[in-house]
Amino acid sequence: MGKIKVAVAGVGNCASALIQGIEFYRRRGITEGTAEWGLITPLVGPYAPGDIEIVAAFDVDRRKVGKRLAEAIFAPPNCTRRVVDTVDDGGVVVSMSPVLDGVPDHMAAYPDDRRFIPAEREPDDVRRVLSESGAEILVNFLPVGSQKATEYFASLCLDLGIAFANCIPVFIASDPVWGKKFTEKNIPVIGDDVKSQLGATILHRSLVRLFNDRGIRVKRTYQLNTGGNTDFLNMLNRERLSSKKISKTESVRSVLDQTLDDRDIHVGPSDYVPWQDDNKIAFIRVEGEGFCGAPVELEVRLSVIDSPNSAGVVIDVLRCLKLALDAGIGGPLLEPSSYFMKHPPLQFTDEEAREEVRNFIHRAVELAKKVREPEGAREGSTPR
Ligand SMILES: NC(=O)c1ccc[n+]([C@@H]2O[C@H](COP(=O)([O-])OP(=O)(O)OC[C@H]3O[C@@H](n4cnc5c(N)ncnc54)[C@H](O)[C@@H]3O)[C@@H](O)[C@H]2O)c1
Repeated sequence: MGKIKVAVAGVGNCASALIQGIEFYRRRGITEGTAEWGLITPLVGPYAPGDIEIVAAFDVDRRKVGKRLAEAIFAPPNCTRRVVDTVDDGGVVVSMSPVLDGVPDHMAAYPDDRRFIPAEREPDDVRRVLSESGAEILVNFLPVGSQKATEYFASLCLDLGIAFANCIPVFIASDPVWGKKFTEKNIPVIGDDVKSQLGATILHRSLVRLFNDRGIRVKRTYQLNTGGNTDFLNMLNRERLSSKKISKTESVRSVLDQTLDDRDIHVGPSDYVPWQDDNKIAFIRVEGEGFCGAPVELEVRLSVIDSPNSAGVVIDVLRCLKLALDAGIGGPLLEPSSYFMKHPPLQFTDEEAREEVRNFIHRAVELAKKVREPEGAREGSTPR
């Protein structure tokens, strides 16, 4: 079975797409030299997607808590595509975690099959479940705005020595105080707010970079996004949205060679359209000035399935964290965070970040070998 033991906080659409994806690629059998479209990195060091095993899962929804993970990932309000008939969940049952700030009030006005419905019961002993599961990594898929719930899981990771993959826009890896806590305990963390495999963020960054690389000043730009999953429903509450807006806006702004006033850049989730389900549509507009101030305007519409788009990146995030654990590298992982996340501790251009991730993987694999092999064995003594 799996070599990378992962716990999941939030069994929503992203978790469903990830868990189905692990099963999908496990059945395909990815090995050295396999050409497999759909994956950014078929093998991360020695690790294939099928090496990931989910050993614990936490949610609060009455249709998911107490259910086998294989059933919970398809329970409403999840609405992502089904790409495998079933998944091997190793018998994992979804545990109840504290609701804290995970469930927004405004959702109560929507039909049951579209919203979260918290189970009316006490939470399980999350610390015990996590620790007994043997999880090495916890992946955070909580709803946007779950500041307290994210901090709750991040603190447990610090206490239990579990690596943290923070896929949501609550700032942990990029927050100096939280980052330091992970560094002091030498526990790896990648964050914050996962970029999609080919999503609005990476496309928007590439477009404004293209303008700048061709000497064109970007004057104004926007990115409007619509979708019909619970992530979009949740984000109708603008108070929960502020960190998401910062994360998405900074991600675009950071690759520009000129400064843009706040009024000239608008990036954010824009509306909830129920019939879109897990289909997300992004409308991007860039206005600029070229030779002698000649105007240039560009409009792009991108249509993607939201959750597999994030899972295609998370599958690499988890394997980079495992490499860091093998190599004894802790704290915020700068290169993978920059390539995989919208709001990393340090922003690189996407090209630089991609190269840096390759270097990171190579370095970590070499370091891990040294960690595994005692000094004497490396010097030529016969291994036992
Ligand atoms: N492309 C993408 O889909 C993408 C990209 C970047 C970031 N993200 C972020 O990833 C996160 C997950 O996205 P999703 O589409 O799976 O969301 P979702 O709404 O489908 O799932 C969230 C899950 O969290 C559960 N939950 C709520 N409070 C909880 C608590 N206190 N403890 C445990 N579980 C709790 C809900 O019941 C639900 O099952 C969101 O914050 C989203 O913004 C997604």
